[in-house]
Amino acid sequence: MNDVRKVVENIYYVGVDDKRKHDEKQLKKFENIWPIPYGISYNAFLIVDEKVALIDLVDEAFADDLIKKIKSITDLERVDYIILNHMEPDHTGALPKILEHAKNAKILVSKRGINMVKDFYGIDESKIIEAKDNMELKLGKRTLRFIMAPFLHWPETMFTYVVEDKILFTCDAFGAYGALNGKLFDDEVDLEHYLSEGKHYYSNIVSPYANFVQRAIQRVKKENLEIKILAPSHGPLYRTDIPRILDFYDRLSRWVPERKVVIVYGSMYGFTKKMVNFVKAEIEKHKIPVKLYDASYSDLSDMITDILDSPVLMVGTPTYDAQIYPPVQVVMHMVKTKRFKSKPVGIFGVFGWGGGALEKLKTMLEGTKFTVLEPIVGSRGMPTQEVYEQLKQLVNTVVEIVNKETEK
Ligand SMILES: Cc1cc2nc3c(=O)[nH]c(=O)nc-3n(C[C@H](O)[C@H](O)[C@H](O)COP(=O)(O)O)c2cc1C
Repeated sequence: MNDVRKVVENIYYVGVDDKRKHDEKQLKKFENIWPIPYGISYNAFLIVDEKVALIDLVDEAFADDLIKKIKSITDLERVDYIILNHMEPDHTGALPKILEHAKNAKILVSKRGINMVKDFYGIDESKIIEAKDNMELKLGKRTLRFIMAPFLHWPETMFTYVVEDKILFTCDAFGAYGALNGKLFDDEVDLEHYLSEGKHYYSNIVSPYANFVQRAIQRVKKENLEIKILAPSHGPLYRTDIPRILDFYDRLSRWVPERKVVIVYGSMYGFTKKMVNFVKAEIEKHKIPVKLYDASYSDLSDMITDILDSPVLMVGTPTYDAQIYPPVQVVMHMVKTKRFKSKPVGIFGVFGWGGGALEKLKTMLEGTKFTVLEPIVGSRGMPTQEVYEQLKQLVNTVVEIVNKETEK
């Protein structure tokens, strides 16, 4: 268990690292979907003033750790308020256990959070106070202000701002994968590593709500909200260069493209791989970096994260039982689920007799308003010279788009 850390005078970090193993080989996946090789932190905070407030909690599995940490600072009976910026169980699972001890505590959640508190944990409404936009709660020397920030990434999400210390608690917004290992602030860790983990977390979890990220950032700017510490509930707290962090998420949520092409593919017997190798070499002739992902063996989180800001996506798939090759299908389904901004997609692949994968992929992509580039290049069996000529044509189109999109 990590030690309690001071954020500022009388505001403590009481969160935990989650590095639980699924089996001997790998860490449990986040949401049992996303690989998290560096673990994840659930950041919770305790403010000790005339009134005592907890801000966000931890996963149920770590309730006892949280309780121990709080007890090392104050009696749990002293907790007056439990502020839940987000109801997802990785931040609220410990709530029932905490309430067994913090008998007098009231829960503050947004209007949409009220039913979730009742539905998820069977808690009586008399224990809940609705946090309204711009509502302030005096703790003594300190004042908490609630800022509604819906759909980051659930409907009930909100931020909590400590007026005097200028700390903004944002829960999942601006959060990053990666356990903290006893560190807390951005200047104590390898920032680039956590920004990469932040990009993964963003693409995996928050990206369907890019517009709401934009809205939150605009609001912070418009209201000139001074932030000395940006405190998400996953990953490090930021205090060194907050404009840089806001800009990082601003670019992600505006889908600003990077100069590269991501190719996701699958291949059982090597014919599709031949096409992939050719496409890669042709694109690289134009000094455009290619990121290659064999969907059968690549980390889903890595693929989704790289696709997010690739100006064009290329997908190579064999036909498999008249369908898209299943590992490729999983990636494309996730791109669809995460409602990525539409982008041009080049598709190609091999089949043995009647085909079907490319038609299915085209229909799927058009259903998500992605543009399918011409030509769609299918090859019955080993790719021929004619097939390679078609791939060249496709690559020319791709290169043109990448140049146009990234030279702005
Ligand atoms: C299990 C299985 C199912 C397949 N189903 C089809 C099919 O429905 N239609 C078709 O045209 N080819 C089908 N094929 C043939 C493959 O598409 C063909 O072997 C292709 O070359 C595979 O690409 P690869 O060499 O990149 O692995 C199937 C192959 C396998 C192994």
